[in-house]
Amino acid sequence: MVPSTAAGGSPPAEVLRASGVEKSYRRGTWPARRRHQVLRGVDLTLAPGEVVGLVGENGSGKSTLMKILVGALPADAGTVTHTGRTGHCPQEPVLYERLTCDEHFELFGRAYRLPADAERRSRREIYASLGFERYAATRADRLSGGTLSKLNLGLALLADPDVLLLDEPYAGFDFDTYLRFWDLVRERRTAGRSVLIISHFVTDEERFDRIVDLCEGLAVPR
Ligand SMILES: Nc1ncnc2c1ncn2[C@@H]1O[C@H](COP(=O)(O)OP(=O)(O)OP(=O)(O)O)[C@@H](O)[C@H]1O
Ligand SMILES: [Mg+2]
Repeated sequence: MVPSTAAGGSPPAEVLRASGVEKSYRRGTWPARRRHQVLRGVDLTLAPGEVVGLVGENGSGKSTLMKILVGALPADAGTVTHTGRTGHCPQEPVLYERLTCDEHFELFGRAYRLPADAERRSRREIYASLGFERYAATRADRLSGGTLSKLNLGLALLADPDVLLLDEPYAGFDFDTYLRFWDLVRERRTAGRSVLIISHFVTDEERFDRIVDLCEGLAVPR
């Protein structure tokens, strides 16, 4: 199943909708092979300017759902529709160890077909808001884990996506960066952009518009 994009026209009531998403993985080897159903019919929506937390224990299927939402993994059943541009920050950064931060931004900017000056402007803002400009010329394999996470997030932000999907974005952040992260999320909300934040824990519930628990393969509003 590939996420489809809704037709243009009046502003959408929702920028992302998942309906009845199911997914199971095969486990074990023959003859003890069996299916492990992770998602059992997940329904989830995201409205413009909404910040939603998707919370669940380790192994509850959060990353599986996110991969399905961005079209990186096929679902067994269900549909996903979204409008506008989507930015995705995977739990495990997918980066090129020999490229510097600057080179990553240039590469992703080309992939998004951003004009060079728009890419450089966005890159400068991202360096400033997450505080890692001093690593602009550092290769990815020489960055600390926290700075890699900043680069991972920065690349998802580069094209100013309408929908930002973040899988455990602040797991490696120090407290100052955690606060900067939330400033950034607030700015996006004010600009009418939507953010879905996946985490196995939520300490500051008031920072979210809504929290959804992923439990027993279903998305349950809190
Ligand atoms: N490619 C795969 N093949 C088989 N099983 C998988 C695969 N990917 C995930 N799983 C299983 O599916 C379940 C959900 O995994 P997933 O990574 O989606 O959980 P999660 O909620 O993101 O966990 P965490 O909080 O640890 O990141 C787990 O039991 C996991 O072992
Ligand atoms: Mg995960």
